[in-house]
Amino acid sequence: MSVLAIDAGTTGVTALVVTEDGRIDSKGYEEFAQHFPRPGQVEHNPEEIWQATLAACASALRRAATAPSCVGITNQRETAVLWDRRTLAAPRRAIVWQDRRTSGICQELREGGHEPRVSELTGLRLDPYFTATKLTWVARHDPGVWEGVTSGRVVCGTVDSYLIARLTGGARHVTDPSNASRTLLYGLESGGWEPELCALFGVPEGALPEIVPNHGVIGRTDPAAFLGLDLPISGVAGDQQAALFGQTCFDPGDVKCTYGTGSFILANTGGEIVRSEAGLLSTVAWQTPSGERTYALEGSIFVTGAAVQWLRDGLGLIGTAPESEAVARTVPDSGGVVFVPALTGLGAPYWEPEARGLITGITRGTTRAHLVRATLEAIAFEVRDVVEVMAYGSVPVLKADGGASSNDLLMQVQADQLGAPVERPVIQETTALGAAFLAGLGSGVWGSTAELRKTWQLDRRFEPGARDDAAYGRWREAVRLASHGSS
Ligand code: G3P
Repeated sequence: MSVLAIDAGTTGVTALVVTEDGRIDSKGYEEFAQHFPRPGQVEHNPEEIWQATLAACASALRRAATAPSCVGITNQRETAVLWDRRTLAAPRRAIVWQDRRTSGICQELREGGHEPRVSELTGLRLDPYFTATKLTWVARHDPGVWEGVTSGRVVCGTVDSYLIARLTGGARHVTDPSNASRTLLYGLESGGWEPELCALFGVPEGALPEIVPNHGVIGRTDPAAFLGLDLPISGVAGDQQAALFGQTCFDPGDVKCTYGTGSFILANTGGEIVRSEAGLLSTVAWQTPSGERTYALEGSIFVTGAAVQWLRDGLGLIGTAPESEAVARTVPDSGGVVFVPALTGLGAPYWEPEARGLITGITRGTTRAHLVRATLEAIAFEVRDVVEVMAYGSVPVLKADGGASSNDLLMQVQADQLGAPVERPVIQETTALGAAFLAGLGSGVWGSTAELRKTWQLDRRFEPGARDDAAYGRWREAVRLASHGSS
């Protein structure tokens, strides 16, 4: 028995066929275009996400030795997608989580005194990152599309809902609590859409998907739409919550960090909604079919791996992202250079949407190696910033995954900076693995989380060495400058 997991990320779609013993049987990957209509704006064409999904799945299935018995879905969160309920065609491009165009709408709402109530209900804050203000923007700036929403022809959702609609040939309009809890429209305590928030952001509740548990059968793929396959869809979660599940962080206090375009640190807080005064978000981790919800505390850092990409594509300092490790190792430290990669503002724990990137400490002796090393250090510092303010204080161990977790130097600097061990599993594509786990649990491939835990395998543990607090002090000072530069 095996499971087909679809991970529809920000820059591409990964499909994995995962076997019963938690191994990867085969993999497919397909990128899709990023559209930047204006500075600070990021859009995706939903049809391109769907075509990439079909291509990635076809490629994984072609190579697979096993035939999957169910499908699991995970996705970039918060991105606002609109599509026609009947034809499934998207009347406009999706507004991506990284898009900053709604900072003015957030400011308006903040000035209107709405933030405390919004935070109380959602565990989030008024930031362009989340879905609701993106929909408010469509209502104000794209009236033709919005008329479709108010008349009931066009529906709204996140990427999970859109993919499920496409996979089921339009039979299902659903989402799950982990994705819903990122919209600013979902009540953390009520576990449903909040009419008060729908009214505040001007989103008709009837256009939103039905909220279903994270595992259990929620629909079937339509063979006419999806590669001739008729399979149950039995697991769905937002990518960071899926990674928490894939890392088998099932107990309160378990913490993971996924190093992707951005980095997302999630701590399982069990059945308790832990609220942070220090810039972390409270969010749903997952919900069982019997309605039991597990929550998480999250630190969302927007730019980490994307800073390495910028060294590659923006500055041409490295040829490939993995090369950053070899280049950084040619120097013992960053030579006093500090890079604050606030390339799309700063997320947790600072939340400064208008902050911009900054490099300090450059001398005549500074080389590209120092800058590359400073970039890797910045990632470790950003993660330390979040871990320091987590309710659980310093973590006993951080489970790392995602693309940049294969960088041994970064993992070692991270352990040093945290003063705690960092553990990297054999399978670093934990997001897709988590979706496979949820789907397999939802359709009987696995019987319990205890069984899943047995499949988790350690690749390497990085023990903390000496902690360079002087370098961290320089980082904090540079962050202060990057934030103030915005005001
Ligand atoms: O909240 C945004 C997050 O879900 C995006 O993840 O891995 O697609 O960059 P990723």
